[in-house]
Formats: sequence, C-alpha cells, structure tokens
Amino acid sequence: MDIFQAITGRRSVRAFKPDPISKEILIKILESAQWAPSAGNMQARDFIVVEDHDTKVKLAEASWGQYFIAEAPVVVVVCANLERSAQRYGERGRTLYAILDAAAAVENLLLAAYALGLATCWIGAFDDDKVKRILSLPDHVKPIAIIPVGYPGRQPRPTPRIPIDRITYRDRYGNLYFR
Ligand SMILES: Cc1cc2nc3c(=O)[nH]c(=O)nc-3n(C[C@H](O)[C@H](O)[C@H](O)COP(=O)(O)O)c2cc1C
Repeated sequence: MDIFQAITGRRSVRAFKPDPISKEILIKILESAQWAPSAGNMQARDFIVVEDHDTKVKLAEASWGQYFIAEAPVVVVVCANLERSAQRYGERGRTLYAILDAAAAVENLLLAAYALGLATCWIGAFDDDKVKRILSLPDHVKPIAIIPVGYPGRQPRPTPRIPIDRITYRDRYGNLYFR
C-alpha cells in the first residue's frame, strides 16, 4: 500500500472481529513501530502484547469502560521507558523525549497495521496507575497508548481535519502561510 493511502485511509476502529492475528503479522507491526525515530536513537519505548482475555478486560476497565478494547484478539500497550532516555538526556529525556519516542512508535504501529488490513484505535484515556498495576510495569515505565489490534468489525467514516490553511503560518505565528 502506498504511504499516502495508509495515512489518509487509517481510521480509529472501535469494533473488532474475534479472528486471530498471525505471529508473522504481529511481529511485522511491532518491528514497524520500532523503526520509528527516537531522540538520540535511544528507543525509549517498550511494548507489552496482551492476549490474555482477563487482562484485556482489566485494561478496558482501566480505560473508563472502553470495552471494545477487549474484543480485539491482541492489545499492544506502548510504554515510554523514561530512564532509557534519561540516561543520555536527563530531565528532558525523562519528561519529553521518552514520551515522544513512544508516540512515534504508536503512529508507525497504527499505519503498519492498517497497511496489513488490520484495524486499531489509539487509546489514551486510562488510569495510569491501574494500567501499571495490571501489567506490573516498573516505576520508570509509563504506559502511553493502549492499542487494540484486530480485523475491523466496522468501517468508520473519516473524521474531519482543520484545513491546513488555518493552522500554518509563515515565518512567525499569526501570519497565515496560505493567504
Ligand atoms: C493521544 C490520543 C488519545 C486518544 N484516546 C482515545 C481513547 O481513549 N478512546 C478512543 O476511542 N479514541 C481515542 N483516540 C482516537 C481519537 O479519538 C481519533 O484519533 C480521532 O478522533 C481522529 O479519528 P481517526 O483516528 O479515525 O482519524 C485517541 C487519539 C490520540 C492521538
């Protein structure tokens, strides 16, 4: 699939078929995530692959009852490894770069999954402490996104975007680029 087709065709899907995902495909999307850029190539991110049904339900509960998460055959939790980036970048690594490293991986994962015919949804609304407990995450590993991955149960419509001519400026903020 062409990259622009992937970027514009991907949707947040909130209904999944129970069909399993092959290990080969799972590895491909995780490797795609890991090819994302990262500050100083520190790759300050870790992935937890959740296949256990009870754990998926607990994650859905920790996400304020977004139970469609538990419908997906696989849920990938992308975490920021704060100390891996802090080793080189100190406080900026801990509070910013590690989060960005994880977020870049999330976007790659979503696009790769879509290109392989899979559906995903980036879940960011959850109770961090509950997720940390459910997954036994150490203090320096912060959950960033819970991503249900599976074959789509429904195909949502595209969501609107603010036109770029309203949010792009020339040389300084306030001076619209497209005038
Ligand atoms: C940081 C972040 C947090 C999000 N959290 C949730 C969430 O908790 N639940 C959900 O259903 N969608 C969540 N989304 C998905 C957005 O609602 C979705 O990306 C947005 O509405 C645009 O739709 P699209 O992804 O289909 O283009 C989140 C997206 C991002 C980037």
